Amino acid sequence: MTVLLIGSGGREHAILQAIAKNKAITKIYALPGNGGMADLAVCVPIKATDIDGILAFAAAHAVDFAIPAADDPLCLGVVDALQAIGVPCFGPTKAAAQIEGSKVFAKRLMQKYNIPTAAYAAFEDFEAARAYLREKNTYPIVVKADGLALGKGVVIAQDETEAITTLRSMFLDGKFGASGNRVVIEEFLTGPEVSVLSFCDGKTIVPMVSSMDHKRARDGDTGLNTGGMGTIAPNPYYTTAIAAVCVRDIFLPTVKAMQSEGAPFKGCLYFGLMLTPNGPKVIEYNCRFGDPETQVVLPLLETDLFTIMRAVAEARLDEIDVRWKQGAACCVIAASGGYPERYEVGKPITIGDTGGALLFHAGTKLDGGALTTSGGRVLGVTQVESALSDAIAGAYEAMRHVQFDGMYYRKDIGRKALTADET
Ligand code: AMP
Ligand code: GLY
Repeated sequence: MTVLLIGSGGREHAILQAIAKNKAITKIYALPGNGGMADLAVCVPIKATDIDGILAFAAAHAVDFAIPAADDPLCLGVVDALQAIGVPCFGPTKAAAQIEGSKVFAKRLMQKYNIPTAAYAAFEDFEAARAYLREKNTYPIVVKADGLALGKGVVIAQDETEAITTLRSMFLDGKFGASGNRVVIEEFLTGPEVSVLSFCDGKTIVPMVSSMDHKRARDGDTGLNTGGMGTIAPNPYYTTAIAAVCVRDIFLPTVKAMQSEGAPFKGCLYFGLMLTPNGPKVIEYNCRFGDPETQVVLPLLETDLFTIMRAVAEARLDEIDVRWKQGAACCVIAASGGYPERYEVGKPITIGDTGGALLFHAGTKLDGGALTTSGGRVLGVTQVESALSDAIAGAYEAMRHVQFDGMYYRKDIGRKALTADET
């Protein structure tokens, strides 16, 4: 089979390494892919958002199956377009991808189907939103741009001044483009955060091993929000008892809700949860694998990933026994100096002996055989061990052998999880 993988991050590299194990696959094209993929895929410089380019490529190369892994193409309707030319996909249609693509859609869905989430109100103009803030007068409060905003569309405002400045930047300054035409204001929740990715075929849902992201740029959860600086799995806060509540009150109701809305969800449905004193609540849905959650979750998957993906596309996930390895994984991300703000690219990367660690490239490219940086999050190393503490130590040991000018990484990935483990 010929497979098309759409995207270019560490997540895509982790998916690539997992599907490449399937013997039925003879060729994989990565659009556009990255500098670490050349041994397993043919990277083709077509952007993940170039839907026409992707369609033309798929039609010309007898593609049998497509895996759009990034949020933009999914929200743009790449699955609908590929299916229309007869290419089966692992991923949601444009209608189903709204669960991530529009925060207003997601909040309305949860409200309508009684899925636990932060109380909220949605606005389409600045004055109404400002009036609501004055009336509520409770801080902190959370302000979110409706559409995709590269993880930057959420502001936790500590006071009225900050909330109004945020509203102004979204509604009036156009800082978020069309994503800021509608804004959600919601209640500030507290508690440990858990990411749960799941396989979903429209009617059956199979949650994956839970994980913990580290979204802030700096140690101790300080600094700016990023796409994610490191992950561990499983997440020790996500106990068996909490998982049962999430399946009953959140996962199954979400699958049913999407069916009822005429937009059954197929692909990887990501639940960003907060374990609040009043029970688990949904912070956000994503319509795709998380990055860098995928880099710790897939290494723990025992069942063949491509077999599961095909079953999802054919709506027969209930036939598959999805199994997980015992043990724990830790992924640490090396980023370019300055990320998530301005940073330089084109820095040569040297990778020494990283031992048994898995290496997932993200912002890297091959320049005539030389590996250089090309993005903010450059690459991640993942270590799998029986104990989480060993996985963390192993990932950091491996990271000592990765170097590029300006490189930085968080030194405390998983530390919080270790304390939770002991309690
Ligand atoms: P998101 O872009 O939706 O993942 O949000 C980014 C981060 O903002 C989340 O990981 C949370 O840490 C935080 N966040 C979002 N919504 C809330 C909320 N209602 N209460 C507290 N924190 C939130
Ligand atoms: N790591 C968070 C995300 O993929 O959205």
